[in-house]
Amino acid sequence: MATIVQYSRLGGPDVLEVVEVPIPTVTPGQVLVEVQAIGVNPIDSKLRSGKRPTPPIDAPRRVGSDASGVVLEVGSGVDGWAVGDEVIVQGATGAYASHLVLEPSTLVRKPSVWTWSQAAAVGIPVSTAYQALRSLGVGEGTRLLIHGGTGGVGQAAVQFAVAWGATVFATASPSNHARLVELGAVPLSYGDGLVERVREAAPDGIDVVLDGAGTDEALQASLDLVTDRSQIGTIVAGARAAELGIRAWSGGSPVPLTEEELRLRSEGVPAAIELASQGQFDVEVSERFPLARAADAQRLSEEGHTRGKIVLIP
Ligand SMILES: NC(=O)c1ccc[n+]([C@@H]2O[C@H](COP(=O)([O-])OP(=O)(O)OC[C@H]3O[C@@H](n4cnc5c(N)ncnc54)[C@H](OP(=O)(O)O)[C@@H]3O)[C@@H](O)[C@H]2O)c1
Repeated sequence: MATIVQYSRLGGPDVLEVVEVPIPTVTPGQVLVEVQAIGVNPIDSKLRSGKRPTPPIDAPRRVGSDASGVVLEVGSGVDGWAVGDEVIVQGATGAYASHLVLEPSTLVRKPSVWTWSQAAAVGIPVSTAYQALRSLGVGEGTRLLIHGGTGGVGQAAVQFAVAWGATVFATASPSNHARLVELGAVPLSYGDGLVERVREAAPDGIDVVLDGAGTDEALQASLDLVTDRSQIGTIVAGARAAELGIRAWSGGSPVPLTEEELRLRSEGVPAAIELASQGQFDVEVSERFPLARAADAQRLSEEGHTRGKIVLIP
């Protein structure tokens, strides 16, 4: 039997049900993956709670997008994948599961440099960080401010930007400042006086902001620090982007991603693998829960202070 996590009504983490079902079978063009680890993303809870609106639920709804695992079966007509291949899964429907039937387009070969948990943790955060930074034109010499530097997206963004030659300033709680220094960023505390602290740390100014916090404080500080609003991008406050004149990618934005942005998203994980193979990209997994405790994992994620990633183990 396989284990899956689903919900039939919106609500708190307790609406999540852990259910036993027959192991799914592949049809032509698909592969079956035995899951080793699953990445928990904030969007999983936002969808479950209704914070991010979705159509009415008319059948049990599955949870999660990111995972890692081993190919168990390959359907006819699938090229390039074989039984036993170790894979990163991104963009799956219902990744909170012990077994997944997937389209090959959701698979990337898992590098040996990452554990199963690390490989499960990269899909959404790494793709998002890479695309947002590329869309903002971050590169050699950019003075970049990241709001929320030690979460899943933040750590990926810091590492990409540092690798590309940017000078990175990033916010986090004081207890996480050492991690930002390890990743190559100048750490700053959020909270009262943020703009003054940024100005003191970056006397020549900030060129580009990536907002991964979405708070009024982060947005106002961005506007105070950077005059050209096209140089400010948010992945959280998408619903306010038009009003503020800043850029946004998903995160509640009514504007869908462009073809170019989707292409950039698909480049993120391979780019991180390349950097990881040179020892320049670490994936921090701070908490592991058994799959049966998916509700506890989401409760912790919703506290909003995850350092690195939370992972579920089937
Ligand atoms: N648009 C997209 O495509 C997209 C994709 C992925 C994620 N997102 C969104 O982006 C956000 C970050 O995602 P994530 O996966 O990185 O989340 P996460 O792993 O849960 O990260 C939370 C981070 O936010 C920091 N934080 C909490 N309060 C803050 C504040 N007031 N100011 C600045 N930082 C603060 C925390 O730092 P401390 O613990 O040090 O306080 C923690 O490191 C979430 O809202 C998520 O839904 C959007």
